[in-house]
Amino acid sequence: MIGEARPLRRVDVAVSSGTYPVLVGEDAAGSLHDVLSGLNGLERVAIVTDAHVPQSWPELAAGESREAGAEPLLLSIGGGEASKSTEAVSELLEAMAAGGLHRRDAVIAVGGGVVGDVAGFAAATFMRGIPLIQMPTTLLAMVDSSIGGKTGLNLRAGKNLVGAFHQPVAVLADTRALTTLPQREINCGLAEIVKYGFIAAPRILELLEISEPEGDVLDELIVTSIRCKAKTVEADEREQASRAHLNFGHTLGHALETVTGHSMSHGEAIAVGMVFALLLGRELGLVDLVDRARRLLRRLDLPVEIQGVDRDAVLNVMQKDKKFSRGLRFVVLRELGAPEVVSEVPDAAITESLEGVGIN
Ligand SMILES: NC(=O)c1ccc[n+]([C@@H]2O[C@H](COP(=O)([O-])OP(=O)(O)OC[C@H]3O[C@@H](n4cnc5c(N)ncnc54)[C@H](O)[C@@H]3O)[C@@H](O)[C@H]2O)c1
Ligand SMILES: [Zn+2]
Repeated sequence: MIGEARPLRRVDVAVSSGTYPVLVGEDAAGSLHDVLSGLNGLERVAIVTDAHVPQSWPELAAGESREAGAEPLLLSIGGGEASKSTEAVSELLEAMAAGGLHRRDAVIAVGGGVVGDVAGFAAATFMRGIPLIQMPTTLLAMVDSSIGGKTGLNLRAGKNLVGAFHQPVAVLADTRALTTLPQREINCGLAEIVKYGFIAAPRILELLEISEPEGDVLDELIVTSIRCKAKTVEADEREQASRAHLNFGHTLGHALETVTGHSMSHGEAIAVGMVFALLLGRELGLVDLVDRARRLLRRLDLPVEIQGVDRDAVLNVMQKDKKFSRGLRFVVLRELGAPEVVSEVPDAAITESLEGVGIN
């Protein structure tokens, strides 16, 4: 392809353990050897990926590692939610130990959110924590899971019930990876980007309303989203309060993923979940952004309602989630860009809002 490479953009994330850079753009991965050269005493790196990530990415990471004088150990998990297991982590940790990694060595997560979570958890726990570099290769991982230091594993009882906070030393989001990503996965990431637009950055909505999410525009959407996530994380690193705002659209979204047996992707589910949350806000007398959301989500080929899903099944799953939190809570918008958490919402408002997304 002929053309100028777009410049790298940088967002710094300041957390209690220090400040780390997030680099976004074509050839962000080329900064890996600099990042590794900055780590003291590094001899080996575990490069973790999954079977569906194009192999050129872990190979590129291995080349950069050698250049920085570190011996790469290439490790692969199966991929998919089933890989976010204690068994997969245990295999990874054993392989890292067998490969001779020590406490000054590092883990590089090359892949989507699944790889980021599993490799991140391994880095958080191996010898009580070793440096982690995130190289997200999905749009969702670039704008969401690779930033903020949360890692998660699934148990039979539910998703992400095990985890650790472990901030990376750097995040390298090389946007060339997106060229091989299936459209459905791109849409998944776009749904999260729309979420940031509603809860914090109206500029995102404006951009998506007038232009296609590609090239420079996509880079800007990614960087703006990362800034939103970074700000939220900086304000509330360990998820005591405001970090919960990132769950806008997710209460119903998670339930829809469950009741559809994951035939609905995460992005599709939270798209419907955001319309629901906006309907709920409107029921509660808050800002009315329902039409704007529906128009934008349709433009992005994301669903705004779902047919054939049973209301009681959805309510049951949302109630069951309650066990793990403190009651049924929803993130709604008081104004565009001003989210708040509400609890003790009248049943009638929930029922009405569910009907508005086709669930009755
Ligand atoms: N830790 C957090 O803060 C956090 C936040 C949000 C989501 N998550 C987790 O992230 C996971 C979802 O992440 P995801 O959407 O990236 O899914 P994923 O990691 O399963 O990736 C989706 C698919 O795309 C493939 N893939 C990855 N990069 C590719 C590329 N460049 N080209 C072609 N295919 C590629 C993967 O192999 C996989 O098959 C969930 O498990 C979720 O719980 C974690
Ligand atoms: Zn999400």
